[in-house]
Amino acid sequence: MRTQVAIIGAGPAGLFLSLLLDRLGIASVIVELHTRDYIENRVRAGLLEYHTVQLMQELGVGGRVALEGLEHGGIELRFNGRGRRIDFRDLAAGKCVTIYAQHEVIKDLAAARLATGKPILFEARNAQLHAIDAERPYVTFHHNGVDERLDCDFIAGCDGFHGISRASVPAGVLTVYERDYPFGWLGILAQAPPASQELIYVHHHRGFALLSMRSPEISRLYLQCAPDEDLSLWPDDRIWSELHKRFATDDGWKLTEGPITQKAVTGMRSFVVEPMQAGRLFLAGDAAHIVPPTGAKGLNLAVADVRVLAAALGHFYSSGSPALLAQYSATCLRRVWKVQRFSWWMTQLLHRFPDNNPFDQRRQLADLDYLTGSRAASQSLAENYVGLPFR
Ligand code: FAD
Ligand code: PHB
Repeated sequence: MRTQVAIIGAGPAGLFLSLLLDRLGIASVIVELHTRDYIENRVRAGLLEYHTVQLMQELGVGGRVALEGLEHGGIELRFNGRGRRIDFRDLAAGKCVTIYAQHEVIKDLAAARLATGKPILFEARNAQLHAIDAERPYVTFHHNGVDERLDCDFIAGCDGFHGISRASVPAGVLTVYERDYPFGWLGILAQAPPASQELIYVHHHRGFALLSMRSPEISRLYLQCAPDEDLSLWPDDRIWSELHKRFATDDGWKLTEGPITQKAVTGMRSFVVEPMQAGRLFLAGDAAHIVPPTGAKGLNLAVADVRVLAAALGHFYSSGSPALLAQYSATCLRRVWKVQRFSWWMTQLLHRFPDNNPFDQRRQLADLDYLTGSRAASQSLAENYVGLPFR
């Protein structure tokens, strides 16, 4: 097999890249470890930045998100038993965010990709990258009982944090910057109408909590927990009881309960590798960086990377110049670090740290008071949350 760009992984990064390249007339093959059913049903992120939704419209995959996505013009920050709203439309030039589950995005993108007739090779086992420093790199893998070789001009490593792309870079080339957090999130899906039309981020002395949603009938709720929390210690009634405590307000606001259909614990980490390129291998999305979910940026940052990569590949194939490809890593990293900063800042603002330092608690509350009382501070939150502009 031969193509121009071999894309490893059919997550948001890989699928968006394939559609962007197709629009530029650049051929690609996607090599994906799992089945279509698996990637289309994996419960993950749910919040799309303004630019991510716009890109879906531009690529002709915005039909369902326009109909089924829930546009949110603000969020609530709840602390000291009171909620304060941050109004995005007012503070971020009319922009908003959209609630639409990541696996629904994947369904829309995969359907559009397959409709082009170009391949997603599902259940491709043991993918390995070769000759990434040479003019003609290639990928080998096992597919449909056959050992395959895919020759290409470039490889896009879009295979997430645990993929093989980053691990294929020779030792000494990449520098890792990382920070672990001493907590995780216990996330649930519940068949319960969300108790608020907008997301609620709670600072509470028992720990952080978040109310999100997937539809007018389904709530998505998160509780700060230990990074290695044992789910068997969390029967449904304990989860609801803890959620009620953290969301409690002075004015008797009530959380709606319903049957819990999914429970999982997610760890929290900030992670970046530099550079995001080695020879003809370009890393994008979670393969290159991870953010804690507090700012809801993981998926959106993956999309931002592949916009840059597609433009650079387009420039290369139309002009023969590798100039934009050479700038890929530096261009992406400017945004990556701003988004890392924002995600870290939201995380340290809202979570309870194990040392429970009273100074830090007071500082967090002062920060929240300032943030919700100052237009300048609210505006900074709003412009980061809806998504920083691209230029
Ligand atoms: P991925 O979505 O990880 O896609 C990588 C793809 O590569 C997958 O399809 C995988 O099967 C495939 N792959 C992996 N290894 C190989 C291989 N060896 N060969 C071929 N294919 C391979 N972000 C938020 O903003 N909010 C959230 O609430 C949130 N929750 C999350 C919960 C979990 C459990 C996880 C893991 C992530 C969560 N994220 C969240 C982060 C967000 O989902 C990711 O940032 C986003 O999926 C990144 O997209 P990606 O395409 O870079 O990587
Ligand atoms: C979600 O809906 O899953 C979600 C929303 C906002 C976040 C994180 C997760 O900050």
